[in-house]
Amino acid sequence: MIELAETLSVDPEVVEMLLRILVSADYLSCTEGEYDLTDLSRMALLPDSPVGLTSWVKFNRVHWDIISLMEYALRTGRGVDASRFLESKEDWAVQQLAMLETARPVAPWVAAQVPIRTGATRLLDIGGSHGLYGAMICRLNPPMKSTVLDVTGAVENARKLACLIGIDDIVEYEEGDALKDALVIESLDAVFLGNVVHHFTPEQNEDLLGRIETALRPDGTVAIWDIRYPEQGSKPDLFSDGFALFFRISSSTRCYRESELARWLVEAGFTDVETHLAPAPTHLLVLGRKRHK
Ligand SMILES: C[S@@+](CC[C@H](N)C(=O)[O-])C[C@H]1O[C@@H](n2cnc3c(N)ncnc32)[C@H](O)[C@@H]1O
Repeated sequence: MIELAETLSVDPEVVEMLLRILVSADYLSCTEGEYDLTDLSRMALLPDSPVGLTSWVKFNRVHWDIISLMEYALRTGRGVDASRFLESKEDWAVQQLAMLETARPVAPWVAAQVPIRTGATRLLDIGGSHGLYGAMICRLNPPMKSTVLDVTGAVENARKLACLIGIDDIVEYEEGDALKDALVIESLDAVFLGNVVHHFTPEQNEDLLGRIETALRPDGTVAIWDIRYPEQGSKPDLFSDGFALFFRISSSTRCYRESELARWLVEAGFTDVETHLAPAPTHLLVLGRKRHK
């Protein structure tokens, strides 16, 4: 432990306090004063971990700032848009790597659930950031290609990431604002909305889904992949209630219930609306189809 304090140039007493807490949280083990990584931290916290979350650890610097706004949210009922914490290119890069880390293990499952008509060619990944979800859907449905539509700060870094992770052959990136810009892709077969509807108000989502329905070709698919918001009267749950509070503080809106997402799809004119619960307890996938009228 003294060795660790010297290597990191930190206070030995304070670092030991922290190490003891990490033992109690199962990130470290301690045998006769020697600390070691556990299977949990080896699985997630090393640069080459199989389910790496090291960018999330870096991004937690922003989360500390956001959580400090809890009192403001409690007093005013209002959250603060988290994108205002992304001040530099480095902040965007860390945020996108963190989102990519959480997308990697589940994107193949998500892609396999999304029904796509035979012969489909175009997918729009709204707020797609790194673009992995759209890429995975396209890989399963050749010759489909994906276009990520994301805000100005996001796109430059996302293009670089696409080359690094080998999806630049199948994904292109466009700057734009899904709330204001027309969805102008011709022969659009599918629209994917991953972790983005919780950034928008109910009115904005209703409007966006209506425009998506118009833009899609017949038999097109819309897929909403987002945080599971606890249903009214449901048993409290650390994951869904923790996420719900966090996004209430860090967004000018909130996450939405399955029933709200499904209702918006039906009201926008979609049919075959169905929900798939993800293997992870945090997320759900709500799907709709545009059928011939
Ligand atoms: C939480 S990230 C989700 C990224 C990715 N879809 C995923 O699930 O990993 C939300 C993304 O939505 C983008 N976004 C927010 N508002 C947007 C808007 N009005 N138009 C387009 N993109 C938007 C953000 O820039 C960010 O990249």
